[in-house]
This record gives sequence, C-alpha cells and structure tokens, in this order.
Amino acid sequence: MDIIEAMKARYSVRGFKPKPVSREIIAQILQVAVRAPSWGNLQTWEFAVVGGEVMKELELILAEKASVSDERYPDIPQPQWPSLYMERRRENGLRLYQHMGISREDKEKQLRWFVDMYRFFDAPNGIIVYTEKGLSEWALLNIGLVVQNIALGALNYGLGTTILAAGMSYPDEVRHLLHIPESKQLVVAIAIGYPDEEALANKFRSRRVPLDEIVTWHGL
Ligand SMILES: Cc1cc2nc3c(=O)[nH]c(=O)nc-3n(C[C@H](O)[C@H](O)[C@H](O)COP(=O)(O)O)c2cc1C
Repeated sequence: MDIIEAMKARYSVRGFKPKPVSREIIAQILQVAVRAPSWGNLQTWEFAVVGGEVMKELELILAEKASVSDERYPDIPQPQWPSLYMERRRENGLRLYQHMGISREDKEKQLRWFVDMYRFFDAPNGIIVYTEKGLSEWALLNIGLVVQNIALGALNYGLGTTILAAGMSYPDEVRHLLHIPESKQLVVAIAIGYPDEEALANKFRSRRVPLDEIVTWHGL
C-alpha cells in the first residue's frame, strides 16, 4: 500500500472479527515497525504481545475494574488539558456517541461502551507498549513513532488497530499478568485484529483541524 494511502486509510478500529492474528504476522509487523527513528537510536520501547487465553484474562481483569469504576492509576497520569484541547476531545466524543446512538442520558449504554474499551473492543490480540521508568519525554516521543509504524504496518496485512490509553489504567494488574517488572512504565496498549467492516463503530471517522490553524509558513 502506498504510504500516503496508508496514512489516509488508518483509523481507530473499534470492532473486530474474532479471528486471531498469528504470531508470525505480529512479529513481521514489529520487525518493520522498530525501524522507527528514536533519539540516539535508543529504541526505548518494549512490547508484550497478547493473545488466546491470556488476552481473555487481560480483558476480564480490565473490564471488571472499569465496570465498577475502580479508581484509575495509570503510570502516565491523565493531564489537565487546556480548554482548546478539551474542546477537541469533547467534539470528537460527542460525534462518536451520536454516531453510535449513545445519548447523554443513556448511562447504561455509556457504561457498556466504556467497559468495551477496556475489553479492547473485543480485539483478539493486544500489544502492551512499555519502557523503562524514569526516562525523559524523549522516550515517549520514540514510542509514539514506533506505535504509528505498528498502526500503519498492520494495514498491510488487512489488520486494524486502536491505540488505548484506557488499557493502561490499572498497570499493576497488567504487569502482574504479563510478568512485566515493576521497573517498567506502561505507556499504551494497542488493540489489533481484523476489522469487522459491518461494525457501526468502524464507519466513524474523526476530524482534523484545518492546517491554517496549526501551521505558519516562513520563506515559502
Ligand atoms: C495516546 C493515545 C491514547 C488513546 N487512547 C484511547 C482510548 O483509551 N480509547 C479509545 O477509544 N481511543 C483511544 N485513542 C484513539 C483516539 O481517540 C483516536 O486516535 C483519535 O480520536 C483520532 O481518531 P482516529 O484514530 O480514528 O483517526 C488513543 C489514541 C492515542 C494516540
């Protein structure tokens, strides 16, 4: 797939077919994704790839926590976003809820959606991306680059992804299940699988602010 086409085609997939992704395919994606640039080629990323019974267990643990609204304690705390960004988030969330037919009043549907998110939207596989605790912001920038590579690389195999901060809300439970040492900082989870083209959620497309709001040009 052409690179520009791939960047246009990627979107957050929130409905998956049950068919698992093979270890070989995920290995191929990761093998290429780690060609991502990183500060001083430090490659400050590590991955725990999850499938089968372990994936079911992970989804169960997280969904149980989410369904009783257990207090979240992610390794990377939720920031207080300035109002400009809160507004973008609100607009996107509202459009998504509208698209899904989830009204403001329907707390039951909202909770179901919320819990689904912690269940990786039923993706058959997940990739937990983590790094060493105490590294600088540069380590996270590196991770952003490799994560986008994974999302684009997945398209080559007919796969879809969603990056999930939600999956990292209860890091001790995830570390325990996947034997990740306490010294590691969990950054994001990636739900990965074959998109269910019929799923309503997969017909949603997010918007972007126009370039003239975010770009200034100099000397050209
Ligand atoms: C760091 C990060 C964390 C995210 N966490 C979540 C999440 O917890 N739940 C979710 O549904 N989407 C999550 N997303 C997906 C974003 O909501 C999505 O990328 C954004 O709305 C743009 O939509 P698109 O990916 O379809 O283009 C996350 C994306 C990023 C980059």
